[in-house]
Amino acid sequence: MNIEYLFKPEIEQKFPRLERLFEQSKEDFWNESTVVDWSQPIDMVPEKRRALARVLSIIYYGERAALEVSAQLISMVDDEECKFALAAQVIEEAKHVSVFRRVLTKLDQIHPVDPWSKRLLADLVLVKDTVAKLIGMQLIVENVANHLFVEIGRACEEAPLLSEVLKYVARDEKKHTGIAAIYLPKVLERTSTLRLEFIKLRQVYWSFCLDRTIYNHRYDADALGIDLFDAMIKGIKAQERLVESMGTRRGIWKNRFLESLSLRMYRKHNEENERRAQQGQKGKAWTRAA
Ligand SMILES: [Fe+2]
Ligand SMILES: [Fe+2]
Repeated sequence: MNIEYLFKPEIEQKFPRLERLFEQSKEDFWNESTVVDWSQPIDMVPEKRRALARVLSIIYYGERAALEVSAQLISMVDDEECKFALAAQVIEEAKHVSVFRRVLTKLDQIHPVDPWSKRLLADLVLVKDTVAKLIGMQLIVENVANHLFVEIGRACEEAPLLSEVLKYVARDEKKHTGIAAIYLPKVLERTSTLRLEFIKLRQVYWSFCLDRTIYNHRYDADALGIDLFDAMIKGIKAQERLVESMGTRRGIWKNRFLESLSLRMYRKHNEENERRAQQGQKGKAWTRAA
């Protein structure tokens, strides 16, 4: 951040869409302690309950990292409209940490962090580059989380408490990916090609970590009735739509070959499940963690 900016008397308004996001955050404000009836039970069969707790634990650590990263970004970006939108995000992420802690305690327990998700989240918190943080956390991780909320919501319709919580959290997360989609084009424009190459390499690493995290939880997805092959295709499309909305692909890494390799793993997993079902076996899904 350029310190001179802090003492400039003129007010520059360069991002009206970020200002609207800030207004939206204030209108959407919700108190997680009072809007949700926490006395409601979560009725779910034990296998599904445990699988859901393992998946929501990934989200829980992700929310804690998002709280750190959004707070760091306030002092890293130069434009006030972006600082305002990020300041709103900080309080929203704090609420998300709080709700997932409550849900997990009610459901089962907070499970230890997945090692690959830990590598990814630690890197996003520790990386010093503003653009890398914006792409990694705001554009990629927030969007994956958003997509995951839709899948979990669909898979756990029998638990109204969970649907309610996910509805509030997902509404916030859309604004967080919005911050990246609105702000990144301008920032990417003035980022050097060399720096962008470094950030693209980082994206390869993050994408690998994400892939490993999801694959490690394939049996939990089975227990929840989530088809990961189908979910991955939808997730890739959602990421594409988000990048398209930026109007630039500068600095954004994508590799269709690696995507198809990853999809192949989930197709194989589905085929294995089908084979087991035909043989009348109960898949590992219902009995053990990944
Ligand atoms: Fe969040
Ligand atoms: Fe978020």
